Amino acid sequence: MLLETLIAVTALGTFVKAARPENVTICDWYTPLIIGEPNSPDSQQKLMQRITHTFILGNYTTPNVGIKVAGVAAPGNFSGHEVNILNYFTGAYYSSNGYNNTSTGIAKNFLDDGGATALLADKPANTKTSNQYALLTHVYQYFGEFYGCSEQGTGDFPKYKGVASMYEVHKFMKSDPYESGYFNEQIVLAAKSLGFEQADCDFTLKALEATFGNRCSPAAPVIPASAGPQLQAICVSENCPLDPNATCSAYPDEGFVPFPEIANATLAGAVVKENDTSAATTASPSGTGSPAASGSASGSSTASGSAATSTGGASTLEVSSALKVIGTLITVVGAGLFIAPL
Ligand code: HEM
Repeated sequence: MLLETLIAVTALGTFVKAARPENVTICDWYTPLIIGEPNSPDSQQKLMQRITHTFILGNYTTPNVGIKVAGVAAPGNFSGHEVNILNYFTGAYYSSNGYNNTSTGIAKNFLDDGGATALLADKPANTKTSNQYALLTHVYQYFGEFYGCSEQGTGDFPKYKGVASMYEVHKFMKSDPYESGYFNEQIVLAAKSLGFEQADCDFTLKALEATFGNRCSPAAPVIPASAGPQLQAICVSENCPLDPNATCSAYPDEGFVPFPEIANATLAGAVVKENDTSAATTASPSGTGSPAASGSASGSSTASGSAATSTGGASTLEVSSALKVIGTLITVVGAGLFIAPL
């Protein structure tokens, strides 16, 4: 039983949280601890919902372990650069993929069904037929697979039903290192605030950076793996770090995407997207794959793509090259992501 192994009583009589065993996924480990219910589709979805709402809104629930989370809905600062992630969710920019075969995005409001009030009430949205509902439930599902929820796929917590290519979903946002960095930071802080151990926070950051943080990263099967190799770069601005195994030719226009225009200046407000890539922009469509700007790739992918080791009775999948991070082999086993030091 997880709960029996969780608490170790020291000689001094204090309680010490045991480390997560390697063969228990992050989702399966923290669901009983944080949600206070045994693992089930419902409780696991609740954990993914808690993480998601916290990285969007900032701390709003207990327990939390005293870590402050601002949330991506508030304007923030990353490495000295102001960012305003909310503008991508309100229809302030032409930054959503309309899947209409055009080279620019559409303006779309994702807060169309209850907004923050619904999230604060632990609901994705007020109804099930809105942009907000589709977005939030897809994000729960994505992180459920990312963290290896063993109960996902049954009951009310289906496997990920959204678009498999994170590049396609996010490309017209032209995310830069500060926006991506801030978003990832808030995800990690949310997990930490709920009680994730440092090693699991470190895994989260490295996996996010390696999988989505490098422009021109090679196509990789991520979630769902059954979709096969997909373009996954979320950080696609010219000042994003170039992937060590960059394949810009695999991306439309060699990875170049236009800067998103403001669709509604009133909504966009005072903190708008920083445009410091204009110098690099003129050179970018050349397709050479050369780095257009500085930026070191912390947690960059090693792309060796070797087969995963098997654990337990679960079926073994080919590990995505993008999910191999320096010093850490993330092994995709069945529905779970396990970390084994190299
Ligand atoms: C700069 C950072 C990011 C921004 C501004 C951002 C913004 C957005 C927006 C506006 C959408 C709705 C897109 C649409 O349906 O047209 C979206 C969808 C989504 N995002 Fe992000 N995102 C960021 C990073 C991430 C990261 C790091 C992840 C984690 C893997 C992620 C996972 C997802 C997923 C799973 C969806 C749903 C896709 C679907 O419904 O098909 N995003 N994001």
